[in-house]
Amino acid sequence: MIEYVDEDFGFFKEEFKTDKNLSKILLVTGGAGFIGANFISYILDNYPEYRVINFDKLTYAGNLNNLSLIENNPNYVFMKGDIANKKDVKNVYEEFNPDFVVHFAAESHVDRSIINPDIFLETNVIGTQNLLNFAREHKIEKFVLISTDEVYGSVEKGHSSIETDRMEPNNPYSASKAAAEFLIRVAHQTYGQRVNVVRSCNNYGRYQFPEKIIPKIICNAMQDKPIPIYGDGKNSRSWLNVKDHCAAIDVVLHSGKSGEIYNVAAKNEISNIDLAEKILKKMGKPLDLIEFVFDRPGHDKRYSVNANKIHNQLGWSPKINFDDGLDETISWYLIHQDWVKDVISGEYMNCYQKNGAGIK
Ligand SMILES: NC(=O)c1ccc[n+]([C@@H]2O[C@H](COP(=O)([O-])OP(=O)(O)OC[C@H]3O[C@@H](n4cnc5c(N)ncnc54)[C@H](O)[C@@H]3O)[C@@H](O)[C@H]2O)c1
Repeated sequence: MIEYVDEDFGFFKEEFKTDKNLSKILLVTGGAGFIGANFISYILDNYPEYRVINFDKLTYAGNLNNLSLIENNPNYVFMKGDIANKKDVKNVYEEFNPDFVVHFAAESHVDRSIINPDIFLETNVIGTQNLLNFAREHKIEKFVLISTDEVYGSVEKGHSSIETDRMEPNNPYSASKAAAEFLIRVAHQTYGQRVNVVRSCNNYGRYQFPEKIIPKIICNAMQDKPIPIYGDGKNSRSWLNVKDHCAAIDVVLHSGKSGEIYNVAAKNEISNIDLAEKILKKMGKPLDLIEFVFDRPGHDKRYSVNANKIHNQLGWSPKINFDDGLDETISWYLIHQDWVKDVISGEYMNCYQKNGAGIK
């Protein structure tokens, strides 16, 4: 069932339809989530002539407050719908006839995928195929899937995955993202659709749901609550500011060679325990808030991707220094405690209480 949330939607609808020759129409799936919301703001800032449709089911992770700064922008509209539901997907394509699709919508939390893989297959796999089917029918100019470095699985120290490395996912979330990538490949190889895949390392920044490690550390520290860290805390991840990721998606959308996969990362590799200590020190909080908890089953030890291809071929490189980005993120969460309160008072808390640590 699709709902138009904005009362002025009729106005937007006409604009979207009649100005097709003057501007590009961009369908963003999952735009009420962390990266999607940042990406919509980025596009509206950088492409004032573009029209952007945010198509989102508003799961526990989707929050329209993430778009409060741009909700009145006449070039933006929200449409509620489920990518796993063919009728919803058909409606959004028929309503707006987009030029581009940037596909973020996903179930994105590894711990949840271990407990309930089914919804990950429905959204991340079936949902992606639905979007591709209608993209083909509507002759979409470019379809970009936002994937993850987790599809490579755990990577040995000293190696950074390159795009031609084998995908070896180890949990239901990363397996569902790998499956979605294969569907993108098929769309290109069999049907000649114009597609790209972006494989990013872990992102951080404003609007990230506090089940993920960086906002979880900040939010727990703010309240002097224990900070759960899996196992020995030595698992390491690379971190990229969400604004740098948005810029990378922009270059891939507009300049990426169809059919290609692009890794995206900054050289900010750090273990979970070092990350927790770094944030606590920045916040002036005691390190003994850290509490080691039972490790996640199948927990990948290390992710690391080599981003030379996007740098050499498309000229993208990250701009934001990790310490500066972390400082800005900590300040954002401190200033937006109401946002935090809202998101953690919902379904998330029930799941958190049932399932323990809940950290990516
Ligand atoms: N967060 C990261 O560090 C990271 C890193 C690499 C890749 N990614 C990928 O980027 C994308 C966005 O990640 P995120 O962290 O912003 O996720 P998120 O969980 O914050 O947001 C996901 C959004 O998708 C929506 N959604 C979920 N199921 C849907 C469905 N069936 N139909 C329509 N909308 C649906 C949710 O309501 C939410 O708004 C995902 O595809 C994820 O795999 C994330």
